[in-house]
Amino acid sequence: SSTIKEDLPLLGKKVLVTAGPTYEAIDPVRFIGNHSSGKMGFAIADQFALLGAEVTLITGPTAEKSHQTVNRIDVVSAADMLKACLSEFTHSQITVMSAAVADYTPVVTADQKIKKTENQFSLELKKTEDILATLGKLKTADQLLIGFALETENEEEHAKSKLIKKNLDLIVLNSLNDKGAGFKKDTNKITIFNKASEKTVFEMKSKTEVAKDICLEILKLV
Ligand code: CTP
Ligand code: CA
Repeated sequence: SSTIKEDLPLLGKKVLVTAGPTYEAIDPVRFIGNHSSGKMGFAIADQFALLGAEVTLITGPTAEKSHQTVNRIDVVSAADMLKACLSEFTHSQITVMSAAVADYTPVVTADQKIKKTENQFSLELKKTEDILATLGKLKTADQLLIGFALETENEEEHAKSKLIKKNLDLIVLNSLNDKGAGFKKDTNKITIFNKASEKTVFEMKSKTEVAKDICLEILKLV
């Protein structure tokens, strides 16, 4: 009925959300990670589920708990996340890439724990594949792709250029300069840019409320 349609506007739609950090193994006991808690991505996945979508959440290591109705896929490294995203992306109408994917990974992972023999030690790193940019190249006309940008300087300029370069429909700028926004916090302050470079600025809010704002902006494009 029309009531159901209004309450659950994404009924029958598949949504893919990524969340959390990635861990890049150095040896069997150490890794390179980051401070992402996964809270933002989990909140977005929950909101999409409440809108009636069939949600798949691909997440790096996190303590967050996902909604019962969300199909959760746990991954560890950027390479694992890429693989999982590639197998899910083609059948998703909406994809939101909120994971904090490592930009670099060790060239080699040691089989055994590295011993502290040298006074100085350096680790050789290589670039990971940009998952979002890869999905942007695969995107078809009936798919929406949304990315995040975390910036500490020239925020707007950098966010807008990521939107174009990665072939996105929207980009969510996360500002680390605002107190109360960012990693581990329960609040966030975002600005959203669309392809026309139009900008929507949001107030500092709880991550649940921020997730609602993001979902509603995406809903306008469906
Ligand atoms: N991203 C990704 N794969 C990577 C790195 C980033 O999919 N290997 C995605 C993030 O999930 C995010 C977007 O790209 O949605 C922007 O991430 P960000 O770190 O802000 O930008 P980068 O393109 O990695 O550039 P830089 O870190 O140099 O600013
Ligand atoms: Ca990055």
